[in-house]
Amino acid sequence: MKQVLITGATSGIGEQLAIDYAKSGWQVFACGRNQAKLNELASQHQGISTFRFDVTDADAVKDAARLLSGQIDLLILNAGNCEYIDDPMRFDGSLFERIIKVNLISLGYCLEHYLPKIRKGGQLAIVSSSAAFLPFPRATAYGTTKAGASYLAKTLSIELARYNIDVSLVNPGFVKTPLTDKNGFEMPMRVSVDYASNAIIKGLEKRKREIHFPTKFTYILKLLAALPDPIWRYIANKMVRAQQAHS
Ligand SMILES: NC(=O)c1ccc[n+]([C@@H]2O[C@H](COP(=O)([O-])OP(=O)(O)OC[C@H]3O[C@@H](n4cnc5c(N)ncnc54)[C@H](OP(=O)(O)O)[C@@H]3O)[C@@H](O)[C@H]2O)c1
Repeated sequence: MKQVLITGATSGIGEQLAIDYAKSGWQVFACGRNQAKLNELASQHQGISTFRFDVTDADAVKDAARLLSGQIDLLILNAGNCEYIDDPMRFDGSLFERIIKVNLISLGYCLEHYLPKIRKGGQLAIVSSSAAFLPFPRATAYGTTKAGASYLAKTLSIELARYNIDVSLVNPGFVKTPLTDKNGFEMPMRVSVDYASNAIIKGLEKRKREIHFPTKFTYILKLLAALPDPIWRYIANKMVRAQQAHS
């Protein structure tokens, strides 16, 4: 039986991944803070065991890892959050710190304690975001963390090759989850968690270095990112003006 550990498995993309891997016969270690949701996952799905810890708490991450005996085939670092900085002139330093802790610092804690648990020939997936492709207004904190997560995944993919561990960087577009339900703006080509989970599982099966979806959306962003800076600036300035008019 193959084993996968998923952080952020109590909601959205991570929850769907946990359910889908369990349905396919994997042993799933689902992680999160929401105990009620963890209980629900374990009681309603065969093959799901749970670990409750806060990914921003180094000791809690370490303690939970100690409880995991044996090795895993796949580690999916997916836990994360998004908050926006609406006014750069009133830069919210504590929001910035909060988002960096949950989306980036936590990756270091998890890698320290769970990377050695991946068996030879196993896989690591880091869930970043297509927001890392380009600088998006208001995503100052979120985009910074996801740019960092993407760099981390790409570097590890080179460094871990000699340990026979494949690394996949996951860059979703918009996915309908509680995280994006909070957004008060239009989200082009937003997909369901089923779509996201299916794309991630298929990509991981193929050991893709980058998994991005929906591709119609992500290729447009990749194309924009490849354009000369003045063109992107023109588009970004239009976005800022549209947002200002909206608010
Ligand atoms: N939805 C999108 O459109 C989208 C697009 C691109 C990238 N992403 C990325 O995909 C990942 C999952 O997002 P989602 O949309 O599925 O969000 P979500 O529904 O809000 O789920 C977030 C998950 O992260 C966990 N989490 C948050 N803070 C945590 C903490 N301090 N300690 C432990 N677990 C924590 C939550 O669990 P608890 O509350 O139980 O702790 C929850 O299971 C995130 O990294 C996000 O940035 C999402």
